[in-house]
Amino acid sequence: MLVAYRAVVMLCLAPHGRAQPQLVALHGYPSESHVVRTEDGYLLTLHRIPGGRDHRGPSGGAAARPVVFLQHGLLASSADWVLTGPGKSLAYILADSGYDVWMGNARGNTYSRAHVTLSTKDSAFWNFSWHEIGYYDLPAAIDHVLQVTGQKSLFYIGHSMGTTTFYVMLSTRPEYNDRVMAGVLLAPVVYLGSCRSPIRYLAPYADDYQYLAHLFGADEFLPQNAALQFFAKYGCELAMFELKLCENSIFVICGFDKDQFNSSMLPAVLSHTPAGTSTKTVTHFAQSILTGKFKPFGASSETPEYDLSKVTVPTAAFYADNDLLSDPRDVQQLFQKVSMKLGKFRVALPSFNHLDFLWGKNAKKLVFDDVLAVLARFGAETMRNRSFAVLNYYRTLLQQSGRNYVYGHVPFPGPTAEDAEQEESSEFPTDP
Ligand SMILES: *[C@@H]1O[C@H](CO)[C@@H](O)[C@H](O)[C@H]1NC(C)=O
Ligand SMILES: *[C@@H]1O[C@H](CO)[C@@H](O)[C@H](O)[C@H]1NC(C)=O
Ligand SMILES: *[C@@H]1O[C@H](CO)[C@@H](O)[C@H](O)[C@H]1NC(C)=O
Repeated sequence: MLVAYRAVVMLCLAPHGRAQPQLVALHGYPSESHVVRTEDGYLLTLHRIPGGRDHRGPSGGAAARPVVFLQHGLLASSADWVLTGPGKSLAYILADSGYDVWMGNARGNTYSRAHVTLSTKDSAFWNFSWHEIGYYDLPAAIDHVLQVTGQKSLFYIGHSMGTTTFYVMLSTRPEYNDRVMAGVLLAPVVYLGSCRSPIRYLAPYADDYQYLAHLFGADEFLPQNAALQFFAKYGCELAMFELKLCENSIFVICGFDKDQFNSSMLPAVLSHTPAGTSTKTVTHFAQSILTGKFKPFGASSETPEYDLSKVTVPTAAFYADNDLLSDPRDVQQLFQKVSMKLGKFRVALPSFNHLDFLWGKNAKKLVFDDVLAVLARFGAETMRNRSFAVLNYYRTLLQQSGRNYVYGHVPFPGPTAEDAEQEESSEFPTDP
């Protein structure tokens, strides 16, 4: 049962707190909202920019545009893909480059706080972690997008938790591998053993849900005073900047980069974040930090990890040295575990951090231009052929065009015949 409607009337919100579809429409882009129902009854709102600015490009013929699905990170929402405006935010850049842009919203955030039987006052509503977001929310959203657009597969771009949930989906519901042409991982958060974010202070309590629930709220993650007190024990690591940032959980967890963050953006960012999640979701990350493993919530040492060998979507990963959450060592660990790697892109600015992937002043030049290069190189037809030969061909193209391209240990200008042979036998699925 899927309900779709055009966003026509928007609620009147505070000046900086315009809802996502209203922000998009104000800039002259076509803007839609769609509600999808998950198998377990959550009602999620997807946002869509089906065409370019001033409705240029095929409007009725949106089917001609390749689909890109964007999934936000922890405490974030679809609004974060548009906050810095046209020419700067990834969603607009993609829309202006000819893509049909869809943005998901995970259960519990600003745009997805509804359920067929539960209310947000019910504890049961908040009984989820990123496992359920990956297992239920992403498949429901992707099914809806493919159904509306009539396409067979889409490009997936995830930031932060949007990459965690991507791997949950692909490992627990392998049939979704065929519905994703290629994945772009911005600041991937799968392994967290080397995480340097203050969220690591929660790791010792990762198995003591009662304690964390006491600190952050038993249901929704609402850390105002409790979190301040907790982090005050360790000193807010942002103290050198504004107190307001130390009061906002997204900056406390992700850090702050005063060079890349445009301070004029602060009111807009503060009005859209944190966008809401469950305490269980944050606890699940604390468990990943504690164990260094990628496992379901509450897993014992015997519980197997999510099976990454089931993932066959070709992926490109973008990471930055100063990212407290997505540490380069953890990205490398992920990279070693998955097959069909298109490449890793190391952002060529040492101070670039986790949130700069959304709002960095130079994000377009440092990241998004390479993202466009990755997508543009992949014709839909060819990518259905997931052979090593095809992948290798694309890697060569990326090495020539991507300025920050670093592919694993393979030195430029690319794998030798020997490497290729070795990789083909050890890592890559063979042609059917
Ligand atoms: C939360 O959900 C799990 C299954 O996902 C269930 O085992 C557990 O009893 C639920 N807890 C509450 C408090 O509803
Ligand atoms: C900073 O944000 C303001 C307000 O959105 C905008 O007008 C300005 O162009 C931005 N500056 C940079 C360097 O992005
Ligand atoms: C996949 O690509 C390889 C190498 O280009 C080619 O030999 C093979 O025939 C292709 N397979 C399919 C099913 O198109």
